[in-house]
Formats: sequence, structure tokens, C-alpha cells
Amino acid sequence: MSASKSRVRPLRTAHGSPCWDQLLIAPLWVAYDVNLGTLLRTCDALGACMAVPNTPHYHRALARGDTLARCPCIHWVGPSQAEWVSAEQATGTRIVAVELAEGSVPLARLHPTQERTIVLLGHEGRGIPPDVLECVDTCVEIPMRGVGHSLNVAVAGSLVAYRLAGLA
Ligand SMILES: C[S@@+](CC[C@H](N)C(=O)[O-])C[C@H]1O[C@@H](n2cnc3c(N)ncnc32)[C@H](O)[C@@H]1O
Repeated sequence: MSASKSRVRPLRTAHGSPCWDQLLIAPLWVAYDVNLGTLLRTCDALGACMAVPNTPHYHRALARGDTLARCPCIHWVGPSQAEWVSAEQATGTRIVAVELAEGSVPLARLHPTQERTIVLLGHEGRGIPPDVLECVDTCVEIPMRGVGHSLNVAVAGSLVAYRLAGLA
């Protein structure tokens, strides 16, 4: 390799970052185990927490999806997702919905967050319930050029979480 070429080597650092309670990824309506597992990996990478309903479905899905055997900090939500969101908002936490919606901010205009923030993700078929969407502080949309109507929810959530964390 010539001196001008950079040497690129796979590098993994043993950082084991502690939970960062400033950012919570909240797939409160997500159905598929594989999507929850992917979002767990994103939480680990960012040192973010995850918030999910306290139901057998989510307990089982996270146990199956925890491929690192190092589950990040989980906030168990219940019994009502909408009430939990509004209680968190009342304490001053910023609520960011990731959704294709009128009036949403494009991803490129989203800045790293300076305050405790919850990132809401919707159901694979139905999205985020409209009554919850109405009350959020920010709604962010990821522009698309393809023929598909939407992105995979774990991809969308990861893109937005990286941006809010200031790492992308
Ligand atoms: C497969 S989409 C749901 C689409 C649903 N059929 C609808 O039209 O509302 C699942 C979730 O992924 C997220 N999502 C997918 N693509 C997105 C995009 N381009 N911008 C923002 N959020 C997106 C949203 O959280 C959405 O609720």
C-alpha cells in the first residue's frame, strides 16, 4: 500500500458506554420482533434507552431480539402509550414523532437534541395513532425517492436517532 493511501482496518473499541437517559427510542406500536431487535442494536450503539409497552409481546420480542445479550436500559410503558407520552411531555421531555405527515420537518433539518428526547415510532401498517401525533413537539419525515411508500420502521428510527444523538 502506498504512503498516500490510508490504512483502513476493522476497529472495535471496548467502550461499553453507559445508558444515556437523554435519548429514548420508543417503538410503542411496533409489531415485528425483528424490527424491535434491530432497534435494540441502535440503542446499544448510541447508548440510548428503549421504551416499550409492558406486555408479553414486547418482553418476548426483546428477549428474542437481544442478539448482543446486553439489553440496553428499558423503560416499561403502561397501560396506555398515549398517557405515558403525555406524562413525559408534561415533565419537559421533548417528543419527536418519526412519521410521514403533513407539516413534518425533513430529516436534514433535524439538529442534535439538547434536551431529554423521546423518539416515537409507529406500527408497520397503521403508523403512529393520529391522536398522539397531534400532540408531539416535532414530527420528522425522511424524504424518499423510490416507489415504496415508506421505509422499514427500524431503518427510519435509527436514522432519526443517530441525527438527534449528533452522530450523523
Ligand atoms: C412502514 S411505516 C407505516 C406506514 C403506514 N402504512 C402509513 O402510511 O402510515 C412504519 C413506521 O415507520 C416510520 N417511517 C417509515 N418511513 C418513514 C419516513 N419516510 N419518514 C418518517 N417515518 C417513517 C414511521 O414511524 C411509521 O409509522
